[in-house]
Amino acid sequence: MDYFNYKKGGLYAENVPLAEIADAVGTPFYCYSSATLERHYAVFSESLAPLDRLVCYAVKANSNIAVIKILAKLGAGADVVSEGEIRRALAAGVPAKKIVFSGVGKTAAEMGFALKTGIYQFNVESEPELFALNEVAESLGKKAPIAFRVNPDIDSGSHKKISTGRKEDKFGIAFADVQNIYDKAKKLKNIEVKGISTHIGSQIMDIAPFARAFAKIRELAEELKAHGTNIERIDLGGGLGIPYYGSDNPPSPRDYADVVKKVMHGLDCKFIFEPGRLIAGNSGILVSKLVYVKNSGGRIFYILDAGMNDLIRPSFYDAYHEIISVKKSTAKKQLVDIVGPVCETGDVFAIQREMPAMKPGDLVAFRSAGAYGATMSSTYNSRPLIPEILVQGGKFAVIRKKLTYDEILASEKIPGWLK
Ligand code: LLP
Repeated sequence: MDYFNYKKGGLYAENVPLAEIADAVGTPFYCYSSATLERHYAVFSESLAPLDRLVCYAVKANSNIAVIKILAKLGAGADVVSEGEIRRALAAGVPAKKIVFSGVGKTAAEMGFALKTGIYQFNVESEPELFALNEVAESLGKKAPIAFRVNPDIDSGSHKKISTGRKEDKFGIAFADVQNIYDKAKKLKNIEVKGISTHIGSQIMDIAPFARAFAKIRELAEELKAHGTNIERIDLGGGLGIPYYGSDNPPSPRDYADVVKKVMHGLDCKFIFEPGRLIAGNSGILVSKLVYVKNSGGRIFYILDAGMNDLIRPSFYDAYHEIISVKKSTAKKQLVDIVGPVCETGDVFAIQREMPAMKPGDLVAFRSAGAYGATMSSTYNSRPLIPEILVQGGKFAVIRKKLTYDEILASEKIPGWLK
């Protein structure tokens, strides 16, 4: 459920016509709906009641500080994977005490920054990382609160590039090594063991892999506790899928919460969750303009002003995004290829997609582009990052401006010896 609907013949974000935003800021642009972000957060968090819980929004999905701010105001924490993301979360008003730091390659500098800030938890993914963290904490005279991210060796059934919980994946501590690493951690003076974490993948469309992974984590928690290890927090990661196609039917937050409650029943712990896509995915769209209609090789190409550098998911994961005309159209449908302007054969958003006849200047909207859209964009082909817009009710604001070419070029320098 989202707040992008047709009214008076055109697509709106809440109460703002997208055509009006396009006139004001140009195209392409990302547009986010505050009401949708708020709704998704509330539905997720409330489904998990009455568990003692902390919902840490996975900032990587959409890291604009205005988006994080909306969630922070509702009480969300943040799941971060870099110093940059910690800085964003703090700038948006997330208290350090609600930040969990994930990732396989945290550097000493990043750990030091996080320790000084006083974050809630490090999710440690390897033995070398554990020792590095202990050293950094010692040098700062601090104790680092940790959970080990455990790899439960469960196939999430999602795309291979976004599955993280199989033993061949780079993430987490292999199940067989878990007892051993907790024993090592307990002996380190600047490490404080708090719990277990796991995250098995993203865009997961079936509840069964969650249930299997959570059952393994529950059993592990009991074993560790029996062994005298302090397990007071369990971080179950993110990963719940969202509908991209009309026919997609992911588990609902309630289905997910029911599994968590059933599997974890009676376990005296605080539960942490790291949803990203579920909160942001359907809260955002990408609006782009048709530049040319090209007939070639027996095909019709809709060439847009947005490219793979703005939204890489279709090229990178063969991901499907619904693409609709911003002006409600009754024109006859035809099969077209929808492509970007980037000089790459892979700069294709949709192949042989049924679309109404359209003409240059018409606007299209990519649905479900609020997660892993703007955050994965690049300036390839020297295309400036596009603006991000936030709508709330009848008003909108630019929450990331487009840099001018002068601003972009000013950050580069020709060394003296080349002049
Ligand atoms: N926690 C950890 C440790 C993660 O690695 C991720 C996502 C999340 C939470 C949030 O997962 P979510 O709830 O959003 O599924 N770029 C890909 C998705 C990559 C996900 C990476 N990790 C895409 O566009 O589909």
